[in-house]
Order: sequence, then structure tokens, then C-alpha cells
Amino acid sequence: MTAGILGTGYYVPERIITNKELEKTVDTTDEWIRTRTGIEERRIAADNEFVSDMGVRAAERAIQSAGIRKEDIGLVITATITGDNPWPASAALIQKKLGLGNTPAFDISAACSGFIYGIDIARSMVESGRYKNILLVAAEKLSSVTDWSDRNTCVLLGDGAGAAVIGPVETGGILSSVIYSDGASREMLYQPAGGSAMPATEETVKNKMHYLKMDGAEIYKLAVEKMPQALDEALKTAKITSEEVDFVIFHQANIRIIKSIAKRFKWPDEKNIINIQRYGNTSAATIPIALAEAVEQGRIKKGDIVAMSAFGAGLTWAGSIVKI
Ligand code: ACO
Repeated sequence: MTAGILGTGYYVPERIITNKELEKTVDTTDEWIRTRTGIEERRIAADNEFVSDMGVRAAERAIQSAGIRKEDIGLVITATITGDNPWPASAALIQKKLGLGNTPAFDISAACSGFIYGIDIARSMVESGRYKNILLVAAEKLSSVTDWSDRNTCVLLGDGAGAAVIGPVETGGILSSVIYSDGASREMLYQPAGGSAMPATEETVKNKMHYLKMDGAEIYKLAVEKMPQALDEALKTAKITSEEVDFVIFHQANIRIIKSIAKRFKWPDEKNIINIQRYGNTSAATIPIALAEAVEQGRIKKGDIVAMSAFGAGLTWAGSIVKI
């Protein structure tokens, strides 16, 4: 049995913050952000809008596009690093809000690679025959862990959600998925406080330890090394050449990273799905938002071969080839 993507959906919050608006709050310019990152604006969730709310909106659209009933879902997996609470899982909240009875639900924490990690897990579970239809939701409210006074990070991040239903397919499907991690370099990109290593205290709040910290330059170097490696392996495993790929979706962290890797694989701009200019980096949600948006616009069609690759906190990296 082969697993494939049966349907996709996405949701982004209404509120838009432009680069120009950020010029008023931190020492930055629209010009710097556009040229160094490719970002023009990002979406920010409302105060009362959380990961589970955005995830449910994306999930409903994915279930509808898959043409199944929500009762047909056997398992809910949510990829997030900014869940409604540190625990329990946001997947359980999404399960409850969708009215899925006692359907099992759990979260995975693989940051920007979370959606491809989810594909790898869901694929194995469908292909083993254990579950039929799995709802994979990737949702982030990065604005809740953003230090809005830090120009190094606040210009990069945004909120949103993407979802996919993974189930058995007759043709095509998930041709390969590879996932990796390196815990030794975890402090290059992490949230220092709020876990058992550094529980919340007055000090941690005062010292802004509950916000995302990133060594951008080092992450950049590793991202341009590891994503092509994962893609190479995913292509070889799928027995697909780079010329056969119809579309590529990279994790949307920096346009320079995206374009330089696409160039190495000789993928022209028409094949490269890019939405970083409108949404910034929404961590796990970036790839499924881009995928669902391209499907909705009719750009990605049934039978197209899509290559995906991500790199992020953990550190984690991943690649997957899917025939839609
Ligand atoms: N506006 C103006 N200047 C800025 C800004 C800003 N918003 N941010 C940084 N600068 C300054 C820096 O302070 C530095 O100034 P200095 O030389 O006086 O110290 C200068 O610009 C250059 O800084 P660099 O860090 O070298 O800038 P770079 O071109 O590398 O771009 C960036 C920084 C955009 C962060 C880049 O390194 C990057 O994209 N890194 C990878 C991010 C990534 O892939 N993250 C993984 C996923 S995130 C996740 O998992 C949640």
C-alpha cells in the first residue's frame, strides 16, 4: 500500500504587519528586510487566536479538499513549537474542536521540519495498515515567542497553519521522505526558558528568556548545506531526477537560501513555489501553507511531482518527494 496526500488546506490570520510598520518599532528598514530576506509582510494572529484555532481552520479545508468525512480520520498529528500550552498536545485540542470523539492525537516538535517529519510518520502508519486517514496539521503562533524589540528575529517570523490528509492512494503518493536531526547544535535556535531546564521565574521573564533566540548566520550556513543533502537523498530514494520535478517547496526562511539551493538543482523560478514575501517564516506551517495555496490556485495539479525540503530548530532537516 502507498500513502499519499489526499487533500490540503491552509489558514493565515487577517492581520498584516508590513516592513514599514516594523520600521517604526525597531531599527530596521523595508529595504534591508526585502533584500536580506525577501519578506515584505507577515500575518499575526489575534490575541485570542491560538495554534489550535488556526490549525482547525486549515484542517477543515484539508478534510473538505480530501473529500472525506471527518469521522473517517483515524489519527491527528500536529507539528508545532508554539502549541496553545506547553502540554498537553495541541493535536488533542484540534481533535476536540473538530468533534472527533476519542480519535488519538499527538504533537511532534521538529520546528520548521515538522511538516515533513509528519509526512514521514503518517506515511509509515498508513503504509503499515494501522491507520487509514491521518490528519496532519502544522500550525504556529511564532508571534507569541517573538521578542518584538529584537530586529535580528522579529522581522523574520509570522503566524499561520497548513494541513494535509494523508491516506492510501492507487497511483503516485509519497515517493520518499527523509528526516534528520542534530541535537548538539540545538542552542543555535531555541527558546531557553519555559521548559524543565529553566522554568519560568521573574528573572527569566525579565531577561527575555521566553523568546526565540537564533544565531542567524550559522543557521544560514547549515541550511544551505543540509537541505540539498536531504533533497538529493529524497530524489535518489524516489528514483526521480531533478528534471522530473514539477515544483519545489522549500521552507520559507530566507529568499537567498531558497534561490541558491534551487539554482544548484537547476530549478527555474517557475518551478519554485515562494510565498515568503507575504507570510515570512511560519516554521512548521510554511511548507503546507505554500502547498495548499499552490493547489488552490491551480498551480500544482494532480499528477505533479513536488519536492519539499526544510531546515530548522533541533536542529532538524528533511526532504520529501510527493506525486500529488
Ligand atoms: N534590520 C537591519 N539590520 C539588521 C537587521 C534588521 N532587521 N537584522 C540584523 N541586522 C544587522 C545585523 O545586526 C548585522 O549588523 P552588524 O554587522 O553591524 O552586526 C548586519 O545586519 C548583518 O547581519 P547578518 O546576521 O550577517 O545578516 P544576514 O545577511 O546573515 O541575514 C538572517 C540575517 C536574515 C537572519 C539570515 O542569517 C538568515 O536568514 N538565517 C537563516 C534563518 C533560518 O533559516 N532559520 C531557520 C528556521 S527558523 C525556525 O526554525 C523557527
